[in-house]
Amino acid sequence: MRRLRLTLLRGFLMVPAAAAACATLGWALAQTDPPPTEPTWTSLFNGTDLAGWKATGNAKWTVQDGVLIGEQNAGQPGDLWTEREYDNFELSVTFKMVWPGNSGVWFRCPDKQPGYQMDILDKQEYGVTVGTIYANGFLSRNEDESIVNLNDWNTVLILCDGPRLVVTLNGHQTADVTDERFAKGRIGFQVHAGDHYAPMRIMVKECKLRRVLSQAEAEAAAVNRQCFVCHVDYTEEPLTLTHQEQGVSCATCHGESKLHIDDEDRKTAPDRMIAHHKVARFCRTCHAEIAEACPNATPPTDDEPEQACTECHGKHKLEPDE
Ligand code: HEC
Ligand code: HEC
Ligand code: HEC
Ligand code: HEC
Repeated sequence: MRRLRLTLLRGFLMVPAAAAACATLGWALAQTDPPPTEPTWTSLFNGTDLAGWKATGNAKWTVQDGVLIGEQNAGQPGDLWTEREYDNFELSVTFKMVWPGNSGVWFRCPDKQPGYQMDILDKQEYGVTVGTIYANGFLSRNEDESIVNLNDWNTVLILCDGPRLVVTLNGHQTADVTDERFAKGRIGFQVHAGDHYAPMRIMVKECKLRRVLSQAEAEAAAVNRQCFVCHVDYTEEPLTLTHQEQGVSCATCHGESKLHIDDEDRKTAPDRMIAHHKVARFCRTCHAEIAEACPNATPPTDDEPEQACTECHGKHKLEPDE
């Protein structure tokens, strides 16, 4: 079936019966609405356990009734971190504090370095309150405690777009700064050290994130959306997605393929197909050198070309040419 399907496109063998069979057997690719233009929100906290998070230090982290709770553990502080690192994103956190306390939302924290923190403090100690950004000193100061729900839930939106960091607390912007020190890192929560914070409980009921696309990525995503309309299974294809993040679209590799997109009979191939035995050579036009991490299993010989990169990477076509 697969071979027929390919012949269909390459080819000149298309007969009406094949076209009809194509529809009934369902090889014709489903045509659907393209995926939404905005990246979607993903919850980092699942409401039931700490999957996706890891603690450092000795604070106590629990989940009760859908709420993540951090508190000192026999006077010991600590932090809770996402397993993954994030670079450009909007992060939305809904939280509440039991005072006296000192906590914060960490973001872009590389391992073994502090990164940035959106402080969860009251004004008494430092003259600044929730919504302030700290990174080895205050990068911004929010002194307006009237916009803080000291004893109730707050929602903070943290935007990290390149060097620009913007904090919006309960709908009020509290920081808009430029800082180049940390481009990427973990997100986390803090339980601060200090006997006077012994009663503190930092509670989080929602923590969700969506990526902010670079211009190159947004442009590649716009091109890919035209292809995803029919090539639905490629929306999750690893080679497509890792390259889309780099601004390399389907069209970068296969050409704009306008005739292919517009051909209702599906007889016109895309502008560029890469024969399986030429894949390694093609990929090497951008990946001239591959790190040692990549076991280049069978180098070319006089008789055989180099093994196709797609045999190990992604879910693009795997069979050799007919
Ligand atoms: C209107 C539907 C439609 C759109 C839009 C579309 N394709 Fe296709 N494409 C098909 C069909 C149908 C096939 C044949 C089935 C298959 O090989 O999986 C195909 C096959 C292909 C193939 C394999 C060709 C071969 O010889 O094996 C490539 C590569 C391809 N498309 C790339 C693209 C790219 C790149 C875009 C966007 C620029 C795109 N397509 C947009 C319907 C479409
Ligand atoms: C980084 C370059 C690159 C990108 C990006 C890329 N492709 Fe491909 N594509 C290839 C190569 C190389 C092959 C041939 C693979 C092989 O023979 O192992 C291929 C093969 C295909 C095939 C034929 C596979 C089959 O099963 O018949 C389709 C269909 C296809 N690509 C569609 C797409 C679509 C749609 C996109 C974007 C959503 C896309 N490709 C993005 C390089 C790329
Ligand atoms: C138009 C240029 C271009 C082409 C063609 C291209 N790549 Fe890439 N690829 C990139 C860039 C840029 C990156 C990101 C930087 C890097 O990791 O080298 C990347 C990253 C990757 C990564 C690493 C992804 C990660 O998460 O670290 C893999 C694997 C990869 N490419 C495989 C391939 C394969 C296989 C092909 C051939 C089908 C291919 N590339 C063709 C530009 C290209
Ligand atoms: C025999 C399997 C295999 C083949 C063939 C292969 N790779 Fe890889 N490659 C890997 C593995 C395993 C890794 C490391 C884990 C990972 O990042 O997926 C890797 C990593 C990579 C990376 C990211 C590592 C880095 O930092 O540089 C790139 C880019 C890459 N490969 C490109 C290619 C290209 C281009 C080809 C074809 C010329 C190719 N690979 C052929 C298995 C393979």
